[in-house]
Amino acid sequence: MSGLAERRILLGVTGGIAAYKAAEFTRLLTKAGAQVRVVMTRAAQDFVGPLTFQALSGEKVHTDLLDPDAEAAMGHIELARWADLVIVAPASADCIARLAHGHADDLLTTICLATESPLAVAPAMNQVMWAHPATAENVERLRTRGVTILGPASGDQACGETGSGRMREPAELLGDCTELLGPRLLAGQHVLITAGPTREALDPVRYLSNHSSGRMGFAIAASAARAGARVTLVSGPVERSTPAGVERIDVDSARAMQTAVETHIDAADIFIATAAVADYRPSEVAERKIKKGDEDGRTLALARNPDILAAVCARSPRPYCVGFAAETDAVAENAQAKRRSKGADLICANTVGAGIGFGDVESTLELFDDHGSVRLGPADKETLARELIGAIAERLSAPSREQRNETP
Ligand code: CTP
Repeated sequence: MSGLAERRILLGVTGGIAAYKAAEFTRLLTKAGAQVRVVMTRAAQDFVGPLTFQALSGEKVHTDLLDPDAEAAMGHIELARWADLVIVAPASADCIARLAHGHADDLLTTICLATESPLAVAPAMNQVMWAHPATAENVERLRTRGVTILGPASGDQACGETGSGRMREPAELLGDCTELLGPRLLAGQHVLITAGPTREALDPVRYLSNHSSGRMGFAIAASAARAGARVTLVSGPVERSTPAGVERIDVDSARAMQTAVETHIDAADIFIATAAVADYRPSEVAERKIKKGDEDGRTLALARNPDILAAVCARSPRPYCVGFAAETDAVAENAQAKRRSKGADLICANTVGAGIGFGDVESTLELFDDHGSVRLGPADKETLARELIGAIAERLSAPSREQRNETP
């Protein structure tokens, strides 16, 4: 039976071209056994008629706050109480702004304010509107209030532009709802995650680093928190907002990351190392800015950085340890070799190369452990993160080899 069977989902549809995708989302939700009630804003009805949603949900669509007939059947407060989950998809920039400021001047915003159930929004708008500081502030405000922000995705937009702002696909939103309403797979667990790049100082103004965006680690942190875990995220320097319910510790260098990890590792049940830790740092950090000389070239002396994952794996007792491996070739061999050399329980390998594995495009993750391998995706990083959390929870609940009295 689907995790959504008999669950009550209130879908808010706001004005935007992605409203047509909300019709498909409604169909998928009802097919998964959920009870769906749709609330449409006035602008949404300019894109898709309420009759479409009525046919797909099997329920009358709610459109007005002050409609005596509708209020007599199921009033706005009852609707807010009825829902196990309220999801606004698509959520326009205007809707997000009004939610962020606590408006209650139409049926949808009133329900969002009146509900005590989880609230999720799936933004959909032009990429410039999404990138605007006003939208960013509103989204951050919602996030810190515990609202789950689903997406947006990147790609071609209806307006002809390309960028971030597309609504997540209906099938992805279905997975998000399953996660938000599903069993809290990591309830009672403490997950420690490293993410992002490290910066290794050369002098007061220069450093060695890499292009890691931290997106995967932050997505895993968000997913683990939604799965009920206590999450501590040790992050290198990245421009990302902290997922709801996650404790974040900002660090710069590999050694600072290791210190933060050591401080929290004793309490951790699961350690997930997604950070792109610099393997080397400059042997010396100049106290003053290094001046150029007359020489043609210069040699930089480097010292080895600590391997944070390997050090955690070597502890006893130790948490369940998950590492990442970015490989260009011989993925399975290299990933398994990396897992053994570091002593990790699970290694997640992603194939990287020119144009593969970076940025917003869909990618795959191949998980290697004692029992073999399993492939996740292709999917965006948020979906991969959710599936990875599911895979880790599954492995933790399965009896270990030792418990089954098996020899390796
Ligand atoms: N890692 C770590 N500390 C380091 C280096 C890596 O914790 N100093 C972790 C990463 O977070 C990741 C895994 O180890 O989980 C990656 O291992 P690594 O061998 O560093 O991968 P690559 O950098 O891809 O190694 P190589 O360049 O040798 O392929």
